[in-house]
Amino acid sequence: MNRLQQLGEQHREAGAFRVPMPDGREPLFVCSAALATELCDESRFEKVLDGPLVHIRDFAGDGLFTAHGDEHNWHLAHRILSPGFSSQSLDRYYPAIQSSLDALVQHWRAARAAVDVVGDMTRLTLDAISLAGFDYRFDSFASTELHPFLQALARSLQESVDVLQRPPFLSPLFRARRARYATDNALMASLVDEVIRERKTRPEPEWPKDFLSLMLSQPDPKTGERLSDQNIRYQILTFLIAGHETTAGLLSFTLHKVARDRALAARLRAEVRDRLGDRAPSMREVLELDLTRRTLEEALRLWPTVPAVNRAAKSDTTLGDRYFVAKGQTFGVLLNAVHRDPSVWPEPERFDPDRFLPERAKGRPAGAYKPFGIGRRACTGRHFAMIEATLALATLVREFDFEDPGPLALAPTISPKPRGFRLVVRPRSP
Ligand code: HEM
Repeated sequence: MNRLQQLGEQHREAGAFRVPMPDGREPLFVCSAALATELCDESRFEKVLDGPLVHIRDFAGDGLFTAHGDEHNWHLAHRILSPGFSSQSLDRYYPAIQSSLDALVQHWRAARAAVDVVGDMTRLTLDAISLAGFDYRFDSFASTELHPFLQALARSLQESVDVLQRPPFLSPLFRARRARYATDNALMASLVDEVIRERKTRPEPEWPKDFLSLMLSQPDPKTGERLSDQNIRYQILTFLIAGHETTAGLLSFTLHKVARDRALAARLRAEVRDRLGDRAPSMREVLELDLTRRTLEEALRLWPTVPAVNRAAKSDTTLGDRYFVAKGQTFGVLLNAVHRDPSVWPEPERFDPDRFLPERAKGRPAGAYKPFGIGRRACTGRHFAMIEATLALATLVREFDFEDPGPLALAPTISPKPRGFRLVVRPRSP
């Protein structure tokens, strides 16, 4: 449990607490479902860029994730892209997910030792989103080293976090890191720009069905305006940033749980056997894997892979009738703590996918479960993520038996993951 989560547990009754920062600010952290629900009120609160997001903007620009709420390009891209991410439209990207998953299954079938689950889930999700995003095959399972582009992305994301811990007077000591950061950002931009250029040289009817084609061909349904090439580059980088570690973490936590809990594994296998048999499922069939989906939802409750989101007050207001917040003041919603609020989640530490049965979810406050964020800035890729994770979990439990990996430990990364998670996997006989 990290420090903020511990504080969240301690301040459960109060629902929020303030933490003094070195720069004199005292942001408020919210840890109860009731206050999180109040923060969902979009007329009073909105997303603000804070923490690493401010720095990720260096390379993701005004892409959806790092755009300010009032930026023209956020509205434009939101209108153009949202229909393409709806669960009805995702059929066209489903083959990209399937083919990336096939590579993972082959890799695990050939494994002679325990597999590195977090590393392999990261390869899977990166390959799937880059194939669906811009028809680019990183083929991450083909070599032990990640592609230089992906290494640059990992370093730049890490630098966006590390820079927050660095007092300005120490900056001269980090010149080499900053130079590397600039080179990495330039490398990523040039690869994506090249893909965009290359796409435009081909006749439109030959374009693959990916998000890049969607962005190049679709005008804004409201104004007819199109996204600029620069903004398209930012969106592609955004999908890679927002869409891989989060889903990789979700799958890693879920597999850890399933490998430890034989009864749960048996229930999942029964669902997959009854619904799919040995067939490769269509996307519709994946959407019908009810227990598999609820298992992932429960994993996101206990281990939200975006552990906090930021909100700010649109004008001076009082939260929960007791916390005065001035206009623009930022605070964090600690999803780890909110998702364990015992007033909504009885026995919060118990893993129970049936909490997500519709009859049990009825009447739950709106802010009690927000793994995909809040309001209009909630996750654009949530259906993509859930389809990918459901297909992957169903396929992996059908194809492999797992050995108990022992107790869960958490890695101290920005997007939480199980630490040192290696798993013995054995192909199951048909
Ligand atoms: C389990 C997987 C995922 C989780 C837990 C997750 C979680 C989140 C959360 C909490 C936010 C809101 C962040 C904030 O308020 O600052 C967000 C935003 C976003 N996510 Fe995801 N995400 C996941 C997968 C994906 C995938 C696969 C994609 C892309 C294909 C994606 C694309 C985005 C984008 C573009 C935004 C910004 C939306 C906007 O502000 O308009 N995410 N995500």
